[in-house]
Amino acid sequence: MTTRKRVILSGMRPTGKLHLGHLVGALENWVALQHEFQNYHLIADYHALTTNPDTTDIPDHSREMLIDWLSAGIDPSLSPVFRQSRIKEHSELHLLFSMLISSSRLERNPTLKEQVRDLEIEGVTYGHLGYPVLQAADILLYKGEIVPVGEDQLPHIEITREIARKFNQQYKRVFPEPEAKLTKFSRLPGLDGRRMSKSVGNTILLSDLPDTIRSKMRKAVTDPQKIRKGDPGRPDICLVFAYHNKFNQAEVPEIRAGCESGSLGCVDCKLNCANHIVNALAPIRERRAYYEKHGSEVKEILADGERRAAAVAKATMTEVHDAMGIG
Ligand code: TRP
Repeated sequence: MTTRKRVILSGMRPTGKLHLGHLVGALENWVALQHEFQNYHLIADYHALTTNPDTTDIPDHSREMLIDWLSAGIDPSLSPVFRQSRIKEHSELHLLFSMLISSSRLERNPTLKEQVRDLEIEGVTYGHLGYPVLQAADILLYKGEIVPVGEDQLPHIEITREIARKFNQQYKRVFPEPEAKLTKFSRLPGLDGRRMSKSVGNTILLSDLPDTIRSKMRKAVTDPQKIRKGDPGRPDICLVFAYHNKFNQAEVPEIRAGCESGSLGCVDCKLNCANHIVNALAPIRERRAYYEKHGSEVKEILADGERRAAAVAKATMTEVHDAMGIG
């Protein structure tokens, strides 16, 4: 007897080349779960338009992101990878779902409020307000049961559950109520100690070459009270120590002791850390070099993923149409 694998749906907006935060916060998790679950990975290119209608960078950013996914170890023969814009059913289900949730519910979405504040948005578009409705369509088209996300996405998963429940009550049971799966590893800080973010420019990219990683790490901020070798440092407030924790666990006790006593200087500590990151990223770098050389293979992987995703999406929409008696 074969038991059906549970379905994971995960996605990212195409922001271009990915950084260590994406690896630790999402990709490692996707890769670890790809055998036990049926994964679908979506490039949320329509979602990218919610905060910026300019499409210039979207094709390039989507391709770079896909190469990073593959390089990080996503096996596309197991897990279809696809662009949201290529599967028309996302748009249709988004429309139908938009009738099942009130605008006041969407206006209460804390993630939206944060974006409006951070990006200083003056008039929220109808499409931006409906961001979680499109996300619900993304997840439920594939009957996603588990959604690995960061904390900022929890409100969207809650809205997805409400929409699934409402549809099932109003028409017929078609959809599961998906659950969020938070990533275990706490966030890696950026090289300046602030939140790691592409727009701040404090990241190490998965595609950075060894020398770039070393020079970025050399400039990383450390404990301001530790000015020269010999001064005692506080590893728990040092972002370099957080990186050691992730990429160089074996030496953590020794590094803590050396930092606290002062015998270990920041310059050596950072170089050591950079070298461990360089090593950890070696297989990713190798695969990236391969995919960069084999562009047509990347295109074929995407086309294949889109064919498989489209078949699932179509089957779900047939059920939706049957349940509603229209369409
Ligand atoms: N909103 C997600 C983010 O910004 C991206 C996304 C779009 C997504 N559709 C999804 C994530 C479906 C999980 C499932 O990170």
